[in-house]
Amino acid sequence: MLAVETEWKAASAGPQALPGFCGHSRLRLPLAGRACDAQLLRYDAAGFHVSAFAAAGIAMPATIERSVQKRQAEFFFGRLAAALAIQEHGHAAGQVTIGAMREPVFPAALAGTITHTGSVAAAAVLPAYYCQGFGIDIEQPIAASSIDSVEQLVLDRFERILLQGLAQLPYPTALALVFSAKESFYKAVARAVGRIFDFSALRLEAFDLTAQRMRFVTQEALCADWPSGRRCEVAFCLLAGGEVLTAFSW
Ligand SMILES: CC(C)(COP(=O)(O)OP(=O)(O)OC[C@H]1O[C@@H](n2cnc3c(N)ncnc32)[C@H](O)[C@@H]1OP(=O)(O)O)[C@@H](O)C(=O)NCCC(=O)NCCS
Repeated sequence: MLAVETEWKAASAGPQALPGFCGHSRLRLPLAGRACDAQLLRYDAAGFHVSAFAAAGIAMPATIERSVQKRQAEFFFGRLAAALAIQEHGHAAGQVTIGAMREPVFPAALAGTITHTGSVAAAAVLPAYYCQGFGIDIEQPIAASSIDSVEQLVLDRFERILLQGLAQLPYPTALALVFSAKESFYKAVARAVGRIFDFSALRLEAFDLTAQRMRFVTQEALCADWPSGRRCEVAFCLLAGGEVLTAFSW
């Protein structure tokens, strides 16, 4: 069930020389009926330098220029992963700008999504005619000191019982998967919904470890496309670095 990250066989002009770069791989996302690779970049934020933006042809917004090194590195490697994903779809890389809800704005022909956590960034795109929204999210297993607060934020009573009954996965990983799935869902539907909404809007109903899917049902009306009671499946995989990755498109 551990995802296979295919190592990138880079041309000489690849990102290896960029400060902070640690590795690049592709990961086939287990999306139902949709073939899609995520571009994964491993990086060391402490080794990052802003000269990478010019070297890779990625625009550095003023807000990022003023940010701490960790934020600069995650923004950069997220955008670099997005550029690789766009290029792999045969489009010119262009710039992925920042939208009104802080969402990444991809070329109009593509639905794209970005995530980063600690030392890994990822991005993926699908043709826009293919889907209305797309979200991926990576999380570390939840640290012991954060279990209580994340449970309170993310789970209701029903979901707690369901997760506690999952013997095959360590609880910090299972909790991270549900947290991540809800964030992937949020990223995919945020534009259609047009506002931030709570984790209680989505309830976990079923967890299929073999099929690498979680089934959720909306608990409130979010917008015309997402009335209360609509079901959806979020795909997931476990990365070689111990992180969880979830993906949702609709
Ligand atoms: C936006 C959000 C989902 C980001 O998740 P995160 O785990 O903190 O961060 P990640 O690293 O996975 O993702 C960050 C990226 O998400 C993307 N993003 C930010 N806002 C977004 C939005 N409204 N829609 C889609 N993508 C968005 C950005 O590309 C961002 O990276 P960047 O700022 O470097 O460009 C989260 O901060 C948030 O605001 N959640 C809202 C509440 C929620 O999730 N409710 C659950 C409902 S079921």
